Amino acid sequence: MPPSSQPPTYSAAVAPGALPLIGHGHRLLRGSAEYLASLHLHGDLVAVRLGPTTAQVPCHPDLLNQVLADHRLFDKGGVFYDRARDVAGNGLVTCPYRDHLHQRRLVQSAFRRSQLERYSLAVQAEIASATADWRPGRVIDAFPVFHGIALRTLGRALYSTAIDAEQARGIEHAFDTVLNGLFRQMFLPGPVRRLPLPSNLRYRRELAYLHDATRQLIATHRSAAEAGGTGAGGSEPDLLAALLAARDDDGARLTDAEVHDQVITLLAAGTETVAATLTWSLWRLSQHPAAAEQVRTELARALPDGRTPGWADLPQLGAVDRVVTETLRLHPPGWLFTRVTTAPTVLAGRALPVGSTVVMSPAAVSRHPAAYLAPAQFDPDRWRPERLTPAARQAFLAFGTGARKCVGDLFARAECVLTLATLLSRHRLVPEPDADLRPVPLATVLRPRRLRLRVAPH
Ligand code: HEM
Repeated sequence: MPPSSQPPTYSAAVAPGALPLIGHGHRLLRGSAEYLASLHLHGDLVAVRLGPTTAQVPCHPDLLNQVLADHRLFDKGGVFYDRARDVAGNGLVTCPYRDHLHQRRLVQSAFRRSQLERYSLAVQAEIASATADWRPGRVIDAFPVFHGIALRTLGRALYSTAIDAEQARGIEHAFDTVLNGLFRQMFLPGPVRRLPLPSNLRYRRELAYLHDATRQLIATHRSAAEAGGTGAGGSEPDLLAALLAARDDDGARLTDAEVHDQVITLLAAGTETVAATLTWSLWRLSQHPAAAEQVRTELARALPDGRTPGWADLPQLGAVDRVVTETLRLHPPGWLFTRVTTAPTVLAGRALPVGSTVVMSPAAVSRHPAAYLAPAQFDPDRWRPERLTPAARQAFLAFGTGARKCVGDLFARAECVLTLATLLSRHRLVPEPDADLRPVPLATVLRPRRLRLRVAPH
C-alpha cells in the first residue's frame, strides 16, 4: 500500500509538569485555553490531571471529531458535567445519552429558522435600547455590559417582554458567581465542597437564587399566557411558549421540571458565551485595522441609512460574520467540557477503561497546524469560501459537532453579527489603556480580565 493510503496513526502522550494534588490545575489556572492549545506539541491524545482525575485531551481535530461523533460511547459526564448538573439539572446541555434525543427534539423545535427570525427582533430591540444613550466619550466595561445585553435579549426571546431590570441584574450577578465558581468546585474533592467555607456558601446561595428566579419567570409567563397575553396563549409564541407547547412524535412533552432545567440551561449556555464573543471580537478588531476597515466598508454599503440591522440583512454582513468565526476559533468561549466513556475503548492506541474522562476542548484543536496556515494569526478572510478547506471546517469546534452540537449556534451567530453591525455602524470602540487580556482564571466561559472601550465618533 502506498504510504498516502495508509490510515493515519495518532500518538498518545502524558503532559509533563503535574504537581501533587492539583495535577495540571496550576497550568490551567494560569493559561486556560492557551495551555490546552499548546498540548498538541506533546501528542495527539494527551493525558492531563484535573485535580484528582486523569483526563484524556484529544488535541488532533480528527480525534476530537471521532469522540464527538459517538455520543453514546463518549457520553456527557466527568468532572465538568458532574458540576454543571448542579446548575442546569438534567437540561439539554447536561443530560446523558439516554435522555438526549427526546429533549433535543423538543428544544430544537423552539429554534427553527422562522422562530430565529422572530427572536432576532428581540436582539434588535435590546441592542437599540441598551445603546440609545451611548455618546462619544462614554467608557463601557465590555464583558459585563454585553452580558447584561445578552441576558435581556434572551429574556425577550424567551418571554416576549423584557425581563425587569432589577431581576436581570440579580440573575447576572448570580451567574457570575456560579459560573465562575463552577470550575473551582470541579477541582475540589467532595468533602471540601461540602464545608461551610464562604466561597462554598456564596456559590450555594447564588445557585438557589437562580433556581428561584427561574421558577418565578416561568410562573409569570404561565399566568400572562393564561390571561391571554403574548406567549403560550398569544399570537406571537416566544421561546418559552414553544418549549411549553413542544410535543414529540409520541405526543410526549417536557415536564415542568424539564422546562425549568431547559430555561436555566439556555440562560447559562446562551449569555456569557455571546458576551465573551462580542468582547473578544471588538478587541481583535481594535488590533487589526485592515479587518476593521473591511467591516466598516461592508457596513457603509449594507446599512447606508444608519438603521438597526435585522435578520434580512445577515446575508450582506459576511465580513462581520467572518470576524465572529475567526474570534470564536481563537477564543472559544466554552473551552473545557468533559465526556465519560460508557464502554472500554481505544483512542490513539491508548486503552481507555469504562468511566475514563475525555476532555472536549475546541481550544485544543482550533490552532492545529494541520488545519490552519499561521494558526495563531487573526485572519477573518481564511473563512472566505474560496480559501476555506475541509480541514479548517473540521477543526472549528467552537459550537461542538454531531448530535450534541450547540442548539443555539445560529441564534448566537445572528445575535453576535447583528450586535457588532449595529455598534460598528454607529461608533468606533477604542480600548482603554488599562486592558488586561489575560483570561479570567478558571472562568467557565473564556473571557478577558478587563476590557473597557471608549465610544468614539467614526
Ligand atoms: C457564541 C455563543 C455560543 C457558543 C460558543 C456555544 C458553544 C456550545 C458548545 C461548544 C456546545 C457543546 C458542548 C459539548 O459538546 O459538551 C454547546 C451546546 C449547547 N448550547 Fe451553545 N454556545 C453558544 C450559544 C448558545 C446559545 C445562544 C444557546 C441558547 C439560547 C445555546 C444553547 C446550547 C444548548 C442547549 C446546548 C446543548 C445541545 C445538546 O447537547 O444537544 N448556546 N454550545
